[in-house]
Amino acid sequence: IRRVTVPQIARRKGGEPIVSLTSYHAHTAAIVDEVADFILVGDSLGMVMHGMESTLGVSLDLMIMHGRAVVRGTKKALIVVDLPFGSYEESPAEAFRNAARIMKETGCGAVKLEGGRRMAETVRFLTERGIPVMAHIGLTPQSTNVMGGFRTQGRDEESWPLHEEDARAVAEAGAFAIVLEGMVEPLARRITGQVAVPTIGIGASAACDGQVLVLEDMLGLNPWTPKFVKVYGQLGAMIKQAVEEYAAEVRSRAFPGEDNVYR
Ligand code: KIV
Ligand code: NA
Repeated sequence: IRRVTVPQIARRKGGEPIVSLTSYHAHTAAIVDEVADFILVGDSLGMVMHGMESTLGVSLDLMIMHGRAVVRGTKKALIVVDLPFGSYEESPAEAFRNAARIMKETGCGAVKLEGGRRMAETVRFLTERGIPVMAHIGLTPQSTNVMGGFRTQGRDEESWPLHEEDARAVAEAGAFAIVLEGMVEPLARRITGQVAVPTIGIGASAACDGQVLVLEDMLGLNPWTPKFVKVYGQLGAMIKQAVEEYAAEVRSRAFPGEDNVYR
């Protein structure tokens, strides 16, 4: 089966909302593949898979390792892999070199990078050379040290024009979609109305052309989730119950039982 293509995602502007989730693991990605238009291998894997405190420590090798697992586990969705902090900001040439490595070694269909106006030149450089780029603006976790934490963007109306310019700059530079993270609804609505490519919201309201969530967050695998996450499953509680039952049965010698023994 042919995968969802970048132009197919781009053409969904203003149409049926685009569905996306993150995946970092082959077998869960196979389940997500049945419902998602694109799957994001995001650098949030540093936190949700590896216990890091931020995304800043995530390496290119780690992104490639998880990207390969997700490509192997899927066959329908477009796979988009994040460029990690420190792998693309210095120059368009550096961004191309590392994005090309990601594409060659994982087989993914596109990359994502954080930044608006300041990244427009890089978005154009990559797109013109065969690498589709999804941009990511608003709350950009790789800039958390500059911003002084995770802050919802656009609470002050005076800041709106800068965010709108960010969106226009990356759209005009060739980004095929733009993630809007952590911004107030009226700003997300304005940006979505101003750019010709789909906006994908995370903490940015239903005004966007699509939505993405971190799978582990919406499955209840994290002890805490921000307000913008809706928890659709309680996997953390299910795992706890399962391992407790296993431990009790090992201790009582109820496991392995008749069904699990070679005679
Ligand atoms: O890494 C990630 O999970 C992301 C989403 C929040 C869009 O970039
Ligand atoms: Na990310």
